[in-house]
Amino acid sequence: MAPAQGARTVPVWDRFVRVFHWTTVGLFAIVFVTDRVQWIHQPLAYVILVLVLARIVWGFVGSRHARFADFVHRPRTVRAYLEDLRHGRARRYLGHNPAGGAMVVAILFMLVFVTASGWLCVTPEFLHVEWMHHVHHISAHLLLLMIFAHVAGVLWSSVLHRENLVRAMITGRKSAQLEAEGGTTAGPGVGARGPAV
Ligand code: HEM
Ligand code: HEM
Repeated sequence: MAPAQGARTVPVWDRFVRVFHWTTVGLFAIVFVTDRVQWIHQPLAYVILVLVLARIVWGFVGSRHARFADFVHRPRTVRAYLEDLRHGRARRYLGHNPAGGAMVVAILFMLVFVTASGWLCVTPEFLHVEWMHHVHHISAHLLLLMIFAHVAGVLWSSVLHRENLVRAMITGRKSAQLEAEGGTTAGPGVGARGPAV
């Protein structure tokens, strides 16, 4: 699934996006399992919050594929992409595909929501309010489910387009080959909707 040796690659994910992604992955894993070690749980969760806020700013001023304008699509486009995906003919996008982009926005939103609910749990107003603790518990686990779906989507796209997306998120580069061919799928059918890159 790695680009063939000598294949031309192009930069896609800038350094900020890559450092943001893998730092968030590591911190999320630690924060999720340290609910009984609050002196670790709370400060690291706030670091995630700062990273997410910085990522949101970067979504307006960052490099081409880091921008929300590059990967936030209308619900209709996301539905059409999912339909193409179901039929194994989803086209390849150099940045996030429409479904991946929607999931990225949802994950960023949930990271802010979970952190905010956690913070409320330790304020004097909500310290003993049971439902707020339920909100934190349920939203944290919902976010975990979304992350499983995110990783499944990444693996699915990697197989469909014969391209190692995890490696691309490490190196920041993807094969330029399909872009040159019009950005279409490596699968048998060719999706006809939306720009490819
Ligand atoms: C080990 C598990 C994970 C793997 C292998 C993984 C892999 C990836 C890959 C390959 C992309 C780029 C997708 C594309 O090509 O369109 C991506 C994007 C993203 N992932 Fe993950 N991911 C993982 C866990 C997580 C976790 C735990 C979070 C959040 C807590 C997360 C949040 C995101 C976000 C927000 C983006 C968008 C990056 C950006 O544009 O800044 N991921 N992930
Ligand atoms: C990304 C951010 C966060 C994640 C993923 C997260 C995740 C979790 C999880 C999974 C639990 C266990 C819930 C249970 O089983 O009942 C928990 C508990 C808890 N979290 Fe967080 N948390 C985050 C942010 C925060 C923040 C910012 C605070 C406070 C400043 C906080 C305070 C607490 C407290 C006090 C508990 C103990 C259980 C409770 O009182 O409900 N969390 N968190």
